[in-house]
Amino acid sequence: MDSFQYKDGQLFCEDVNLDALAGEVGTPTYVYSKATFLDHYDKIAKAFGDLQPIIAYSIKSCGNIHICKTLAERGAGMDVVSGGELFRAQQAGADMSKVVYAGVGKTDSEIRQAIDANIGWFNIESEAEFENISAIARSMGKNTNGALRVNPDVSDPKTHEKTTTGNKESKFGVDIDRARRFFEKYGHDESLKLSAIHLHIGSPIYSAEPYVRAITKALELIEELRGKGYSIDTIDIGGGFAADYETEASPVAADYAKEIVPLLKPFKDAGGKVILEPGRTIAANAGILLTRVNYIKQGGKKKFVIIDSGMHHLIRPTLYDSFHFIWPTNVAPMHEPPHRKAEMDMPGLETCDVVGPICESGDYLAQQRPLPPVARGDLLAVFSAGAYGIVMASHYNAMPKPAEVLVDGGDFKVIRRRETYEDLVVAEKV
Ligand code: LLP
Repeated sequence: MDSFQYKDGQLFCEDVNLDALAGEVGTPTYVYSKATFLDHYDKIAKAFGDLQPIIAYSIKSCGNIHICKTLAERGAGMDVVSGGELFRAQQAGADMSKVVYAGVGKTDSEIRQAIDANIGWFNIESEAEFENISAIARSMGKNTNGALRVNPDVSDPKTHEKTTTGNKESKFGVDIDRARRFFEKYGHDESLKLSAIHLHIGSPIYSAEPYVRAITKALELIEELRGKGYSIDTIDIGGGFAADYETEASPVAADYAKEIVPLLKPFKDAGGKVILEPGRTIAANAGILLTRVNYIKQGGKKKFVIIDSGMHHLIRPTLYDSFHFIWPTNVAPMHEPPHRKAEMDMPGLETCDVVGPICESGDYLAQQRPLPPVARGDLLAVFSAGAYGIVMASHYNAMPKPAEVLVDGGDFKVIRRRETYEDLVVAEKV
């Protein structure tokens, strides 16, 4: 459930009429609902409440500092993967002790920045990285914490090949055998204390079952390592909970928690700490991309709806064949969508390709998609675009990035102004 709903044929975000908003702010614009962000965060906090986890919001999914601040104020930690994301977390006023820093290629200056900031944990991806972080911490006269990223060799067959990560051999983390050797070699290091195990098996994971398998293996490993004298007090189960790109297609937080909480409860009760790193499940349905129809082109067989946005603002359809429900913001009562699905059973729909202005045939947001009649000037909402939307946008074809707007009840605020042509060249003026 989210706060993008039709009333009398007009789409609202919370209490804001989106046609009126587009009239003021222009298009293309990412529009986010504050209430939905908080609702999704609260649902996870409630479902996993028995574990009292750190919910480290994955900034990579939607990193606007106003959104990070909203979540940080609610109690969220942050999952970051670069100095830039750490900077965002700092700008948002996040509690640094709840920050986890993942990523296989942390540079020396990023490592120093994170140690200086006193982050909670580095997620350790390789031996070489461990040695480097430890040496840098030592040279700074500081100690820091590490979570070894372990690949439990578990994946979800439905996860796209480009976003699955839990397999044995991957650029992320180490397999379980290697984890044992890792602890033998580095498990008593003083500068970088290996006190946690980190998992992230992919994104999205469409059921709790792969988590259960992965966590079971990780808990066995923790027990074995504790038996050998290594003190591991934290397990980070990563991100990957799914989001409803189609109505009620994914499990909700409580469905995952039902299986995961009982598994981790004994660990927690014995003094262990649990970290989650959700991104998509919080952000995806908290945002839409508002775009205007610029032209209609009737081909021989196909009808093309040409919009003022495209793969440069939302690359997911092109990159992963992802489905995003698209619908006009203002429709006749008979065309109010009862749900968001690929197949829409109502009279008067036309099959269209929704395409952008970029000079690539891969520039589409939808293909062969049933839509109510649309004309030049109509506004379309591209739903479930809050996660991995603006953060993956580019300037390709020298296109400025869209504005971002945060709605709160009947009010809204521009939280990232629309870029100008000057923004496109400013870094080149050297
Ligand atoms: N933790 C780690 C270590 C991750 O690598 C990721 C995502 C997350 C947490 C957050 O996962 P989430 O809860 O958002 O599923 N661009 C792709 C998704 C790539 C995910 C990368 N890692 C997409 O648009 O589907």
